[in-house]
Amino acid sequence: MIVCVCKSVSDRKIRAAIDEGVDSFDELQFELGVATCCGKCEATVRELMAESGVCASHCGVEQGQAVPLTFYARQAA
Ligand code: FES
Repeated sequence: MIVCVCKSVSDRKIRAAIDEGVDSFDELQFELGVATCCGKCEATVRELMAESGVCASHCGVEQGQAVPLTFYARQAA
């Protein structure tokens, strides 16, 4: 099923990215482009992340936890 219509990203692609180690919403945005256009897919993407055990709080950060600053390096295709 297509989750992000704007970027043509399916739930399988999101789950595959999570299986490969993507562990935050920001990283999913960077890697797949989800929720970077109209943003209507954001809630569904966060639900998929929660279902996969990536983020119990749906925000990527446990309550009271400091927000880590992360930089990502673009990988060659
Ligand atoms: S549906 Fe994902 S950004 Fe528009």
